[in-house]
Amino acid sequence: MSVLAGRISPEPCSLVIFGATGDLTHRKLIPALYNLTVENALPPEFSVIGFARREKSDVIFRSELEASVRKYSRQGVNDGSWAEFASSIFYHRSEFDNEAGYLALAERLKDLDHERGTRGNRLFYLSAGPDQFETILRHLEASGLKKAAEGSWARVIVEKPFGTDLASAQKLNALVEEVFPESATYRIDHYLGKETAQNIMALRFANSVFEQLWNSRYIDHIQITASEPLGVEGRAGYYDKSGAMRDMVQNHLLQLLCLAAMEPPVGLDADAIRDEKVKVLKSLRRIGGDDVKRQIVRAQYNAGTVQGRRVPAYRDEKDIDPDSGTETYVALQLNVDNWRWAGVPFFMRVGKRLAKSGTQISLHFRESPPVLFNAAGDTKDNVLVIRIQPDEGITLHMNAKLPGNTSHLHPVRMDFHYHTTFERANPEAYERLLLDAMSGDATLFARRDEVEEAWKFVDDIREAWEANDADLAFYPAGTAGPSEADDLIRRFGFEWRDI
Ligand code: BG6
Repeated sequence: MSVLAGRISPEPCSLVIFGATGDLTHRKLIPALYNLTVENALPPEFSVIGFARREKSDVIFRSELEASVRKYSRQGVNDGSWAEFASSIFYHRSEFDNEAGYLALAERLKDLDHERGTRGNRLFYLSAGPDQFETILRHLEASGLKKAAEGSWARVIVEKPFGTDLASAQKLNALVEEVFPESATYRIDHYLGKETAQNIMALRFANSVFEQLWNSRYIDHIQITASEPLGVEGRAGYYDKSGAMRDMVQNHLLQLLCLAAMEPPVGLDADAIRDEKVKVLKSLRRIGGDDVKRQIVRAQYNAGTVQGRRVPAYRDEKDIDPDSGTETYVALQLNVDNWRWAGVPFFMRVGKRLAKSGTQISLHFRESPPVLFNAAGDTKDNVLVIRIQPDEGITLHMNAKLPGNTSHLHPVRMDFHYHTTFERANPEAYERLLLDAMSGDATLFARRDEVEEAWKFVDDIREAWEANDADLAFYPAGTAGPSEADDLIRRFGFEWRDI
């Protein structure tokens, strides 16, 4: 059963984090687990084992994590709850390529099964650098850790980046599949764990008022924007090789597009939903050759001022190649070639060091017929805006008659804000995803074919960029992006919606 269909309780288990001293563990995983503990969402037997190369004791590991949780936890830290949670965290020092380290881990896990009652259930989290994935997987296999005891389970969570192109993703998929079956493999795309991304399906399939209009007959075009003021944040080595297309479009943005464009699934189980998302990816018209120039803009930020702070040009950031041609921004025009979306252009833009922080999907409805009110050109198009973050919610923009002795119209909005309606902060994406992996629900994780289809689309573009020495536009940090992206959307007769 899917958690979208109803809450499932996670089973007792040990979570082994490979690369436990890294940024992700400190910023996301442990704060998420702590918040789950506070909300009594984890079974009391749950244990965390950090596996990493540096020498340290359980006590030191716990105190380092405490400092991070104090910094990143969404609901502060309560000393009692922390102490309770900390007692379930352990540190296991080993090189990633040392068989003895894995054998010792197996013993330690058995001890925890006895001491804490984790019942032989194991969740392995690959959060080390992707160059370590193969070594870790091979050792999980050789040490027998991949095989759960009778009546228990062993699962693996794979962090992004999931490959750097189709070939490397296929290789990684084949390797993972040699060790864990697809049903035990959880590929993270943290956007799927965001409450607002999950709500796209509820909005569409639990409200007949919207789904009736959700097609080319009523929708004129769709925009998806992910705008970040952040820069590369100490991840220069990864980002300079990746760029915005691989870092954001291949995964998060295509996933949002799938949720907005897919057909109703036959059920709420993981495969039914993922089947529909794969169909969208397969329907995406490939962009290659000369179309790349017409439909895509790639750009990089120059020095500028972001939210009141001077920031250097991308090429002057620490550890970035001073001649780097990596894109920190990309804007695309896409087409979903199926019956529902024939003739409806999709536009997508994503960038770093932009003025505003915001991820949104906007559905722009067709104009009403040019008679009555619209004849005077008074009306604004109806737009349904899904705010993924921040200020999570949904707004419908409409036209209303100005009160009084006039027939003039005024744009108005119907608004839903999570914070005011539900009066509580949304859980962090990683809270939901960790809980789901412990519960055996893969609905919010990417399936093998989804990842590979997304790479096919991105690879065509990247190949065309490489073959033609693609143009790179520039934009000052702290702006909305390059003017070339405005030209792109204008060529199709539209304007970007302000976020
Ligand atoms: C990550 C990317 O996957 O998503 C980052 O690697 C990006 O470059 C981040 O900043 C954005 O996530 P969020 O949840 O802050 O929108």
